[in-house]
Amino acid sequence: MRILVTGGAGFIGSAVVRHLISNTEHEVLNLDKLTYAGNLESLTAIASNSRYEFVQADIGDQATVSAVLERFAPQAIMHLAAESHVDRSIDGPSDFIQTNIVGTYSLLEATRAYWQTLPAAEREAFRFHHISTDEVYGDLHGVDDLFLETTPYAPSSPYSASKAASDHLVRAWQRTYGLPVLITNCSNNYGPYHFPEKLIPLVILNALAGKPLPVYGDGLQVRDWLYVEDHARALVKVVTEGEVGETYNIGGHNEQKNIDVVRGICALLEELAPQRPAGVAHYADLITFVKDRPGHDLRYAIDAGKIERELGWVPEETFQSGLRKTVQWYLDNLEWCRRVQDGSYQGQRLGMTEHKDLLA
Ligand SMILES: NC(=O)c1ccc[n+]([C@@H]2O[C@H](COP(=O)([O-])OP(=O)(O)OC[C@H]3O[C@@H](n4cnc5c(N)ncnc54)[C@H](O)[C@@H]3O)[C@@H](O)[C@H]2O)c1
Repeated sequence: MRILVTGGAGFIGSAVVRHLISNTEHEVLNLDKLTYAGNLESLTAIASNSRYEFVQADIGDQATVSAVLERFAPQAIMHLAAESHVDRSIDGPSDFIQTNIVGTYSLLEATRAYWQTLPAAEREAFRFHHISTDEVYGDLHGVDDLFLETTPYAPSSPYSASKAASDHLVRAWQRTYGLPVLITNCSNNYGPYHFPEKLIPLVILNALAGKPLPVYGDGLQVRDWLYVEDHARALVKVVTEGEVGETYNIGGHNEQKNIDVVRGICALLEELAPQRPAGVAHYADLITFVKDRPGHDLRYAIDAGKIERELGWVPEETFQSGLRKTVQWYLDNLEWCRRVQDGSYQGQRLGMTEHKDLLA
């Protein structure tokens, strides 16, 4: 298949692209604007593969997206491009509305125009896969409750509200225009190539630098964690085998309190990086409780039974095995982290098709 991946230079998108190129025969065009969250250095391992191509573009730029669709002629689109950081959405919601809602609308319209030109059989086989989050469901208060695909939407943050809006648009484009769509809603991801602004990499890198490990509120918020490579496998299964019009929840059966995640990282660092920074007796001594995030959801937990039953996907990593791999990956890739932290990752052009070639 020819698969267009939007946001393929991001954390999850790059895992999807690496998986598609390394473990399947599919061709991939990665369309990414390269915001601060896009990093082509996460794709170094596959950038020179002849089945891979990169185009720098905004999903909201309909002329360029249409030109890409016409030339690459994808049989499926996996839409991951988004603004994704909750704290940033609280400080400045505008980019979230623009990319997650208006950008998704624009991509849907470019896709619809392209899809309508396809011969009937190709039109039927085409897939638009929208990648979303479990945060659209709001939070859970009962200990045994789980998010199901039928749970009503109740988003709390500008980020989750913008993702909820995009989910509604995608469903409407199927109901109204017949576009063959699939939606997945996934729990918190973690693993290699995660930006240091997110909890797990932030804690690892701060601990190694002897800096405070910030924990919001009392740290008792519960999240379900999924290893990013398990998510990438699930997404490829859904886009290739999923039922059109269906939603699949994806999760890791790994509910953890935030404070336990931070303590778990500290314990792994004691073992894997025993030479602590000067003046630090134990990594856990660096834990610092900070003022809670406004609108902070207490608990997310997902029922991933449908994708397991219908598509046979199960996560391969437990939280213990995935966290160990993740901590070890950061210890082995401090140069990737340094280049993110000092900004030198930006301006990379690995595997890029220039605009002038695209629009020629
Ligand atoms: N990270 C998680 O735990 C998680 C969990 C569930 C769902 N999701 C969803 O998965 C998707 C990917 O998440 P992520 O963590 O990899 O995000 P990310 O922030 O790491 O990456 C987003 C990518 O999208 C690109 N992008 C942003 N705006 C763009 C635009 N206007 N046009 C083209 N490209 C643009 C960025 O350059 C970046 O490469 C998002 O839609 C997110 O909502 C994430």
